Amino acid sequence: MSLIKPNMIILFFFIIFLLNSSSSSNAAVQDFCVGDLTAPEGPAGYSCKKASVVTSNDFFYKDIFKSNQNFPPINLSLTYLFSQQFPGLNGLGISLLSIQMGPGGIVPAHTHPRANEVIVCIEGTVYVGFISTDNKAYTKTIQAGDVFIFPQGLLHFQLNVGKGQAKVLAFFGGSSPGIQTLAFSLFGNDLPSDVVGNVTFLDNNVVKKLKARFGGTN
Ligand SMILES: *[C@@H]1O[C@H](CO)[C@@H](O)[C@H](O)[C@H]1NC(C)=O
Ligand SMILES: *[C@@H]1O[C@H](CO)[C@@H](O)[C@H](O)[C@H]1NC(C)=O
Repeated sequence: MSLIKPNMIILFFFIIFLLNSSSSSNAAVQDFCVGDLTAPEGPAGYSCKKASVVTSNDFFYKDIFKSNQNFPPINLSLTYLFSQQFPGLNGLGISLLSIQMGPGGIVPAHTHPRANEVIVCIEGTVYVGFISTDNKAYTKTIQAGDVFIFPQGLLHFQLNVGKGQAKVLAFFGGSSPGIQTLAFSLFGNDLPSDVVGNVTFLDNNVVKKLKARFGGTN
């Protein structure tokens, strides 16, 4: 009689499968995979820069609060550090960004289709929240040292409700989380206004106004 029962073998293979699928990083075969941005990005990220040309600078980014994207009308500055901006993250399954908002600043409702997010408030007072798939809102007002979670794929937002500047750091469980911002997606496109109105239940004149604001056509 064998000591190993068939269901133990299945369990064994299941554990191997889980271990494999949970290691999203290339660390299984190499220490790191600094992205080679000159080659196209595939489903698993960028291909690796030759280790012989990798230096400390590939793992270093100077000042995450020196923003690389500014949105003056909504008093928002972002610094994205996804694998495209910070290739040292390629394949490691993590990334981050900084958010700075002036008074009245807004991070519009958006989703990250490929990663969970956890935010840490560094400065200011920020009203944050997400909406679950059963349309329940989970919100909180956070201040320096406070943490909040946005589960993958769910619509979420942030508002600076304090009198001064607000700073937030966001960390992602993926090196290429993707961003889809609701207003830009709905009103920055070239679908006919009628169709946008049909699928959003908004009046045509409202759609046209929003298309003008967000750079949409038709
Ligand atoms: C944006 O922030 C600046 C200060 O950083 C403030 O003077 C201004 O009133 C804010 N604008 C809006 C629309 O809230
Ligand atoms: C879509 O919107 C247009 C213009 O508002 C309207 O005439 C049309 O009937 C709508 N189509 C549907 C299927 O509701």
